[in-house]
Amino acid sequence: MDQLSGKVAVITGGASGIGLATARLLAGRGMRIALADIEADSLAVAVAEIRDLGAEAMGVVTDVSDYDSVAKLRDQVLDAWGAVYFLFNNAGVGGGSLIDSPPKVWEWVLGVNTFGVAWGIHAFLPTMLSANEGHIINTASLAGLGGVPGMGPYSASKFAVVGTSESLLYELDQRGSKVSCSVLCPGFVRTRIHEADRNLPDEVAASMDLDAYKAGQSITEDIIEAGLDVDIVANAVVEALDDRRFWILTHERAALGMTKRRLAWMEGGDAPGPNLERATR
Ligand SMILES: NC(=O)c1ccc[n+]([C@@H]2O[C@H](COP(=O)([O-])OP(=O)(O)OC[C@H]3O[C@@H](n4cnc5c(N)ncnc54)[C@H](O)[C@@H]3O)[C@@H](O)[C@H]2O)c1
Repeated sequence: MDQLSGKVAVITGGASGIGLATARLLAGRGMRIALADIEADSLAVAVAEIRDLGAEAMGVVTDVSDYDSVAKLRDQVLDAWGAVYFLFNNAGVGGGSLIDSPPKVWEWVLGVNTFGVAWGIHAFLPTMLSANEGHIINTASLAGLGGVPGMGPYSASKFAVVGTSESLLYELDQRGSKVSCSVLCPGFVRTRIHEADRNLPDEVAASMDLDAYKAGQSITEDIIEAGLDVDIVANAVVEALDDRRFWILTHERAALGMTKRRLAWMEGGDAPGPNLERATR
């Protein structure tokens, strides 16, 4: 029998994209799936799809930027199933250019992408530590390994996710815990991330230049469309989890290449400069 069979996976941002594609694969491995998302309608459709695959599934409408909402998600999952084995802190939103982003945009992007990860860890880790098993997968990005023009708050939020994940890994190790963690750093993937403004809170939308933001998003759309198929990414994630790998680099050549160029820059070379096209493969 598959060692994952009957175990529980919680996936934030599970109603779409990378989260949903991962849920489909884990459903096929016999896991019980809790999908958490801010979009109630898409969430209901996603849960029905996972149940149609024969898996036990629940959907919990959650705003990951709000700790109380994440704590309620944890309570619902533990009341129903008593344990959590995989926690995917995956929900995320894109932001616009750093220079044009007002404070509310920073708060929104870091609230979802960075605090969403922190709140997931804070809410779920105690029960995983007590069970002394489980694995946390935090979704960062290639934009968490190098600065990207036009995506300042997003890049900042994802650098924080990489740092959080590394710190978590070492702290778990120092405690001798069998709980482990990974950080997922994809390049561009064909999902709805370029339509992240569908979840813009009203007060954030009111504080920004929406036309400029949407123009930036339409540029991103072209590059997203050139990105990897979401099922390839989900397969790479599940494969890496079978080996408990920390770095999940779905666009490995781009990730290693940009890191090497960064090292050369630190050693006195030139700034590598942006190359978004490279991040599509
Ligand atoms: N698609 C890419 O090119 C790419 C590249 C690198 C990293 N990522 C990261 O992958 C993760 C998944 O994104 P995706 O590409 O599948 O995009 P997506 O838009 O298809 O899915 C993101 C999901 O997060 C949900 N969400 C947004 N705000 C939320 C909130 N406050 N609380 C709960 N859920 C919320 C959305 O409703 C959506 O279902 C994100 O963290 C994203 O930053 C994506």
